[in-house]
Order: sequence, then structure tokens, then C-alpha cells
Amino acid sequence: LHHLIDTKDLSREEIDHLLERARYWEGKGEAEESPFRGRFAANLFFEPSTRTRFSFEVAERRLGMEVLRFEEGTSSTVKGESLLDTLRTLEALGVDVAVIRRGAPDILGELARRIRDIRLVNAGEGCTAHPTQALLDLYTLQKHFGEVKGLTVAMIGDLRHSRVVRSNLWSLKTFGARVILSGPESMRAPELEEYAPYVPLEEAIRQADAVMMLRVQLERHREALFSSAEEYHRAYGLTVERFARMSPHAVIMHPGPVNRGVEIADELVEHPRSKIFEQMACGVPVRMAVLEWAMEGGERG
Ligand code: CP
Repeated sequence: LHHLIDTKDLSREEIDHLLERARYWEGKGEAEESPFRGRFAANLFFEPSTRTRFSFEVAERRLGMEVLRFEEGTSSTVKGESLLDTLRTLEALGVDVAVIRRGAPDILGELARRIRDIRLVNAGEGCTAHPTQALLDLYTLQKHFGEVKGLTVAMIGDLRHSRVVRSNLWSLKTFGARVILSGPESMRAPELEEYAPYVPLEEAIRQADAVMMLRVQLERHREALFSSAEEYHRAYGLTVERFARMSPHAVIMHPGPVNRGVEIADELVEHPRSKIFEQMACGVPVRMAVLEWAMEGGERG
């Protein structure tokens, strides 16, 4: 079976195939085509989500799938049932694919080795992996620049807690982009710096072809890191003044959700050089491609 646990596990050829299929699905627009009519997708979100959850749901419906929503609070997980047994149950019911978002610890890779008939798609796990976000970011960059090779992509902000940075790092490097990292000293991720250098903020802003701002994941910080949103914005945010120092051709990206006025100035979110809403739109065809790839990776036993 094809499972999508992280971009690290995908070859260049597999990513090329997924992006080509995403282009196909985007080009189809709303045209009627339901290759997986009667097949079942269950969306298990143990952490909050708006973009990922609904874009998977739109993608599943556009592929003709039956969409099963899972509510943690009313499921048997509250009675102690493990995720493995939850997935085994879905397998027994004939569900084809499980889309899963969850916090730490990372277990999806291990679960993928222990299940037989249901495909797993990671919709964001802990601080380590968010592969469909990285694929849609890559797709957005390819759409805008044509060629990703040689681009400098700056990822700025809460590096320590960002699964988006980790998954993006692997796919961007696979495509020959130069990745640079920046943000507050207290939010650095030293283990990533052997793959992507940490540079001062003003340097990152100046060098980048794409500036990817990251949300401060307050829910994952134990201590208060800044006295105010304004203080963070002044010190590490993409302010209007910093935006003016970006290359004239450079674009703004952000995986969302956005904290306006914190990591990015309110008026830059809808700026003509902002790709933020385009990234979200790209999420649907990219997730259609991922689901299709997962579904085609072998028949149910
Ligand atoms: N980018 C992203 O994962 O957003 P959600 O948390 O809203 O799904």
C-alpha cells in the first residue's frame, strides 16, 4: 500500500508524479469525474485544523469518495482504544484511507508497518512532519517560478516547533532549492542547521526568492517568549519595512493559520506578492493527487 508519512520517504520521481497529477486535477476544474465513487476516506483529526481538514474533505468529495468524519470526543479513543485498534476497526469496516492529524509522539510510520489494508496519509504529526503542506508549497513555488532549482527559500519564525519546516526542507532540497532559516534564537532548531544554514533575519529577507513566515506555536511553548505580539512583530515579523527590503520579484508564503500583526503585517497577507491564499487553493488538487496515489498503491486485500 502507499502511505504518505513524510516527504523524506518520497523519491524525486514520486513527487514529480504527484505534482503532475495535481496539475491535472487543477486543470479539470469542477468537471465531473469521480474515480473513487463508493470508496471510503476517514478523517481523524486529534488536533485542530481548518485548511488541511477541509481541503482533504473537498479533495475526497471531488474524487467521489464517501467521507467519514471522526470526532475524538465521541469515539472509543476516550475509552482507551489505541490508534492502532481504531485503524484496525476502520480496516474491518472497509475504509480505504485514513487521513490523520495528531500531536506527539510520532507513531504514524510505525502504525503504517502494522496495518494491512488501509492507507495512511499524514495530515500533520507533532513537530516532525506535514507532508501535504510541503507538497502544496512546492506546487505553489513551481506554479509561480516554473523552476524550483536554484531558488532561495527562507523559512522564518518558530523553527523549533514547525513540522512544516521539516517536511519542506526535504522536498525543497530534493528539488534543488537553497533553504535558509531564521527567527528568534530561542526558537532555533539546531538539528536542521546541518541541512540549511541559520542566518540573521535581515540577511534572510534580502536573499530570499520566497519568504515563508511561520506562526509562533504558542500552544507548544511552555513559557511566555515575548511580552507582546507587537514586540515579536517588531523583532522577528515580516513588517512592511522588511517587506520593502525583499527582492522585487520575491513572494510571501505562510502555511496558515496566520496571526496577523505578529509574524506578518496585516496588510501583507493580501498583498499581490502574497501567495498565502493561493497556497490554500493548491491544497485541494495536491491532496487529490495524494489520495489518488494512495488509492492506486495496491488493491485492498
Ligand atoms: N497549514 C495548516 O496545516 O493549517 P490547518 O492547521 O488549519 O490545517
